[in-house]
Formats: sequence, structure tokens, C-alpha cells
Amino acid sequence: MIDVDSARQVLRDNDRGGHTVPTDGLYPFQWSWDSAITALGWFTFDEARAWQEADTMFAGQWDNGMLPHILFHGDSGTYFPGPDIWGSNTVVPSSAISQPPVWATAIRRMVETATDRELAMSSLKRLLPRLVDYHDWWYRDRDRAGSGLVRSYHPWESGMDNSPAWDEPLARVPEIEWSYQRRDLGHVDHEQRPHKAQYDRYLYLVDFYKKHDFDSDVIYRDCPYRVIDIGIVAILQRAGRDLIELCRLGGRDDAIHRISDELERTEAAIQRLWSPNHRCFFNFDIVADTALEEITTGTVLPLFGGLANEEQADAMAALVDDWLSASAFGVASTYPESPRYEPQRYWRGPVWVHINWMIAEGLRDYGYTELADRVKQAARECIDTSGFYEYFDATSGAGCGGGSFSWTAAVALYWLAN
Ligand code: GLC
Repeated sequence: MIDVDSARQVLRDNDRGGHTVPTDGLYPFQWSWDSAITALGWFTFDEARAWQEADTMFAGQWDNGMLPHILFHGDSGTYFPGPDIWGSNTVVPSSAISQPPVWATAIRRMVETATDRELAMSSLKRLLPRLVDYHDWWYRDRDRAGSGLVRSYHPWESGMDNSPAWDEPLARVPEIEWSYQRRDLGHVDHEQRPHKAQYDRYLYLVDFYKKHDFDSDVIYRDCPYRVIDIGIVAILQRAGRDLIELCRLGGRDDAIHRISDELERTEAAIQRLWSPNHRCFFNFDIVADTALEEITTGTVLPLFGGLANEEQADAMAALVDDWLSASAFGVASTYPESPRYEPQRYWRGPVWVHINWMIAEGLRDYGYTELADRVKQAARECIDTSGFYEYFDATSGAGCGGGSFSWTAAVALYWLAN
């Protein structure tokens, strides 16, 4: 049984007045996809607070439409790399990359289930132009050739930071030459966090954007890390469909046509990343011009994005079924038969409940209701066993990373509690 009061309390405790931090200490700012998912949690008991979460996030949107992955609303000595390292110099200090675009999906759900209609419609009016700008930015800036598949420039942008899917493209990125002190290891056991070699490269990329003055032409062409991230593509696709619905409601007919064209292009283009042998879509390394053959939760998110045909959905459902038989605690972030699977290291194996929600949602859309219910039950098992942790050891359900975590509590409220 989900303890609704405790879940609400997690959000209240992590509320910093207008934005919710993912967890105290480890992540002391506003993260984009955390915030969208957290808004859905707020929405179950405080609609006004949920709308405020969105407003605070979009206040940090860049002029070109990009929505940063982190907004640094204040100083914090407990986080690295902070705004000085990113160097982006924006009104709300921020990082210079984005994150999986779940916002339109969250906002559609909020609009459609709102009890305060007036507040919902006035909020939509404010947020809709910003959402449209954000989606336009993805297509314009990250898919300059109009290929139908947007690019990603940083493993952090995927939200699945150290996923084994990024090992090869990241290994080609040079390491930085300056020394620094990580802050994450002061909060969480190093066994549950990325290695130093990865961190050195994450920071090289951060330096690269800054060195080139965030010039999107240069980054598009020369960034040493450029991948097609199936998770982002799929989440953008679903959000695009949700955005079209919002545009209908909000009278933005002008944008509907444009977004629909993009969705069609993506639907056609993603086909070349389908691997029938592995029963999923593979991420793609643009720099090396090669598919990244690692099965991760990101690679089945086309279920959530509505990007699979029936045969593909059937194959992915069978894959998820096998996957689930390896853990009573949900779909582990990396397929358990992979040699790179590590059940307690961050995105290399643990279960993340918001991703399990996306997978279950996708399965349900395609009619795999019984399997979707099993995914849901398994995710609930994590919280029953350990509480509202950041992620969960896929073999034991033990809580890992930060405790009292906002998106976990939020998912519990809007998905698991009903
Ligand atoms: C980590 C996660 C990312 C999340 C952030 C804040 O960087 O990998 O997905 O958004 O923490 O919770």
C-alpha cells in the first residue's frame, strides 16, 4: 500500500518555494524532467502548486526555446558542476543542455484532469507558447537536416547519465585536464555512482559548449559526443502528440501542422534503428556512424512514444516480459543478460520507477494490459520494500542513491496510489 501522506510529505519537504528539488543535498536545484514528473505528483493534491512548478521551470527557458536541464535558483556549495562551470550567463543561471521533454505530456494530463478549470486554462495560455517554442527548438536546433531524429550532445541530456548505451561514444570524448572535487560522492556510496573516467568526459563536454560560446552550429557539427537517443526521441514523440492536443485547446492551429509533419518524419526515420534480433530500437552514435547495441529501458520507450508498429510492439512486449522475469522489482534499466549490467549502479541496472511508468503506459496503449499491470505491481514492490528512494537495486529492491526523492514520491501519487 502506498502511504499517500508520506509521499505528499516528501514533496513538501523538497519544496523550495516554487520549485521542487529532486532530493535534499545531492540535487539542490530544479531539474527539468524531475520537475515535470513531480508536477504530476503535486497535481493530485495541490493543483496551484503544480502549475507553479511549470511556471518556475519555463521562466528559465532560453531565448532560442531550449529548456535547460538544470536551473540553478540559488547558491549551493553541495553541488558540482554549478553555474560557474557551465558558464551560460542566463537570467536564471542554468546548464547548457536539455533533458527528456516530458513537459507537454505532464501539462496535457494536468489540463485534462484539472478540477480548477479556470486555473488550468489560464495556465495553459501562459505555458503553451513556451511549449511550442521548446518543441520547435528540438527540431530546428537538434535536427538541422530534417532527418526526423533529433540529436543529443551529452549523456546527462538523456537523463540516463551512465547508461552502458553511452560507453563507446563517451569513451571517445577527451578527458579534461583540470582537477575538481565531485560533490555527489559526499552524499552517496561510490558503488552507486558513475566512475571518474566518465565524469572527466562529462566535464570535457561542458567545457566544449562554453569554449564555443554555445554556438549551436559548431556544436551540431563538431561536438565530440553526438548520439540519437531513442529515449529522447520517443519521449519527444509522445509529448509532440500531447502538444498537438494542447494546441487544439489553446487555439494554436498554426503550430499543429508543423508538429504533425515532424511526428511523421520521426515515425518513418526511426525504422532504420529497429533491430528485430534484439527486439528493440537501438541508439545511434552519429560520430562513429554506428548503432549502439545495448538493450536498455530507453530502447523500448518507443512503446511510450507510439513509434512501434504492431509487430514491433509485440516483440518489445515479449522482451519486457523476459526482462521482468529477472526481477520482482520492475524493469531494470539495463537488460539483465548484458555483461554490463550492474544492479545497483545508477543507470546501469537499477530500477527507476518513473521509467517503469512510461513502459507500462506504452504497453497499455498497445493493449498489453496484463503485462502493464505486472510492471506496475513490480514498481510498487520497490516502494513497499524501501520507500521513496531515487532508484532501486534490481535484485533486492533495496533503495539506492538519494532518499526522500521527489519523482519517486510523485509517481507513487499519480500512478501507484490509484
Ligand atoms: C541524475 C539523473 C537524472 C536526474 C537528476 C536529478 O542526474 O541521472 O535523470 O534528472 O539526477 O534527479
